[in-house]
Amino acid sequence: MLDLTGKNALVTGIANNRSIAWGIAQQLHKAGANIGITYLPDEKGRAEKKVADLVESLQPSLFVPCNVQDDAQVDETFAIVKEKWGTLDILIHCLAFANKEDLTGNFVNTSREGFTTALGVSAYSLIRLCAAAKPLMTEGGSIVTLTYIGGARVIPNYNVMGIAKAALEMNVRYLAADLGPHNIRVNAISAGPIRTLASSAVGGILDMIHHVEQVAPLRRTVTQIEVGNAATFLCSDLASGITGQILYVDAGYEVMGMSETKG
Ligand SMILES: NC(=O)c1ccc[n+]([C@@H]2O[C@H](COP(=O)([O-])OP(=O)(O)OC[C@H]3O[C@@H](n4cnc5c(N)ncnc54)[C@H](O)[C@@H]3O)[C@@H](O)[C@H]2O)c1
Repeated sequence: MLDLTGKNALVTGIANNRSIAWGIAQQLHKAGANIGITYLPDEKGRAEKKVADLVESLQPSLFVPCNVQDDAQVDETFAIVKEKWGTLDILIHCLAFANKEDLTGNFVNTSREGFTTALGVSAYSLIRLCAAAKPLMTEGGSIVTLTYIGGARVIPNYNVMGIAKAALEMNVRYLAADLGPHNIRVNAISAGPIRTLASSAVGGILDMIHHVEQVAPLRRTVTQIEVGNAATFLCSDLASGITGQILYVDAGYEVMGMSETKG
């Protein structure tokens, strides 16, 4: 049954109403899950106010700042989950970051610092969050992360983020193997291009969306809600036999080889 009543779901990565994590949180809530939200804090507290206003309708029972680059904040987040919820059933890892200058131009010019930042925030963080979640997933659990086809193929300007997504996708497989004996499933959704804050930092993202609208089998790209529906499925008992997988939610774009565009 796709019924998440009584399940505790922690959702990371909501920045605004375009965030994929917002689409996922809404659909998990619709399926009955008890929602907890983490947000990336900023010095002026603007993110806190913005995200709090947005998620109010979901009545989150947890609302916690968590910069995944800060181990103390990660530990504090899961200490709060333990204290308030006791157990965790669902973890949504829906965040990424790379310096803007590393998301355009020649990949060969990627700096050491840019590489480390992108891989640390976007790929290592999944391992760190899974380690913190594991002791709380006493009844088993489902962990879902977000990737992009640029981690499997070369997409212009995606550059260092492609390497981060390749690492993230391999993380999913190793984590699935590690956590499977505890009945914790780990999967990724590879979403088609969607206009968001993060994607707007990638050079030529609108061209990419336009290209997908022309050549994807469904002749369009996808919405945050469609990604949210797939995530909800992966978190439900309907997906109880699925782990270590990359599920493409991209209007079919991934299957295409050479395609005609109309210019
Ligand atoms: N938009 C797309 O086209 C697309 C396609 C496929 C996959 N994705 C992936 O979906 C995920 C969500 O991105 P989005 O497109 O919804 O953009 P978004 O900008 O709405 O979300 C990115 C989130 O990452 C968070 N974040 C960045 N650094 C962080 C840190 N150090 N600690 C905690 N949080 C941090 C931001 O606060 C933000 O909420 C990312 O992994 C992205 O790569 C996006």
